[in-house]
Amino acid sequence: GWKMEDVMDEEIKVINNMVGSDDHVICALSGGVDSTVAATLVHRAIGDRLHCIFVDNGLLRYKERERVMETFERDLHLPVTCVDATEQFLSKLKGVVDPELKRKIIGKEFICVFDAFAKELENNLGKKPAFLVQGTLYPDVIESCPPPGTGRTHSHTIKSHHNVGGLPKDMKLKLIEPLKLLFKDEVRQLGRILTVPYSFLKRHPFPGPGLAVRVLGDVTEDNALDTLRQVDEIFIQSIKDAGIYDSIWQAFAVFLPVKSVGVQGDQRTHSHVIALRAVTSQDGMTADWYVFIALHCFALRDWCNVYVPHLSQLYTFKLEILGRRLLVFYSIDSNMYHFEREFLDDVVQKICNNVRGVNRVALDITSKPPSTIEWE
Ligand code: XMP
Repeated sequence: GWKMEDVMDEEIKVINNMVGSDDHVICALSGGVDSTVAATLVHRAIGDRLHCIFVDNGLLRYKERERVMETFERDLHLPVTCVDATEQFLSKLKGVVDPELKRKIIGKEFICVFDAFAKELENNLGKKPAFLVQGTLYPDVIESCPPPGTGRTHSHTIKSHHNVGGLPKDMKLKLIEPLKLLFKDEVRQLGRILTVPYSFLKRHPFPGPGLAVRVLGDVTEDNALDTLRQVDEIFIQSIKDAGIYDSIWQAFAVFLPVKSVGVQGDQRTHSHVIALRAVTSQDGMTADWYVFIALHCFALRDWCNVYVPHLSQLYTFKLEILGRRLLVFYSIDSNMYHFEREFLDDVVQKICNNVRGVNRVALDITSKPPSTIEWE
């Protein structure tokens, strides 16, 4: 492990050497941990010659734009231009049902928005921005062997690049990638030093194409995006209230383009089905559907009950407590291999009572493989 204070100082020096004193830099913020930490670091180094953009593409979660902008402004004092491109994205997505085509359209629209932002800056500043900040991490960089001279020796599974692929050809921007030697947990540590709020650093990953890959079929139909936002918010808030958010890699809802029959009040309904998904994972490459295991521990003569996130087989461990070494034995209570019934009942009831147009909730219990984490 490196000391993150030293890493921060070193990176600030590197950025200052690289960027000329009248050069301007742009950065696209996604609202995720990596781009936020990268931008905050570059802002420390060069101040307001950094110009950030946050794009509302109409595919964001419930109140995401407001929440993220508030963090940027109030907590991080980052200069961010917020662009509302909802119409631009949704009009291009109308009628599109093929998952890959959706992703391509979204990637292309992002580039159009960034390009327009760069041109506008050039008009205002009388000078082209020269650099682009990207929150690339070490696992994205390494192939089979780490770059020489980095002091890194880990071999780590490579995650395929999902980032909004490709830059406009005529932008000729040089890249600043201040996180490219760090792992995710180190980025979080760095973020803490840079005063990024902890709640922000612990957020679940969210895909670049946003809710478009969580609404199966045409995203513009059946009020799908709004419905999904409401359901997702109820699910995530319930998970936070239950104190289990941090033990889950990712949790979300999926809008299905099918209707089923239900009965609400004394009315027959014909409404949409929503799926809930929660998974645990180390790096997103493989994942287990979320299980919540209760361990019954026996330590000397004292029984205790502790909850831990999904652990594979472990039957004893050593514990040092108050100067005493204990060998702890435990067994797994197999009745607890999933969200607790009470929790799920509560979530489903809240969804069906509060969200119009939903009368059925399914729980996705597939791991990756054979499924992927996202449904599209
Ligand atoms: P899958 O669905 O491939 O997802 O099992 C693995 C992880 O990657 C995230 N994901 C994306 N992230 N742009 C992103 O920035 C994308 O296009 C994208 N697609 C999937 C997904 O949320 C999960 O954490």
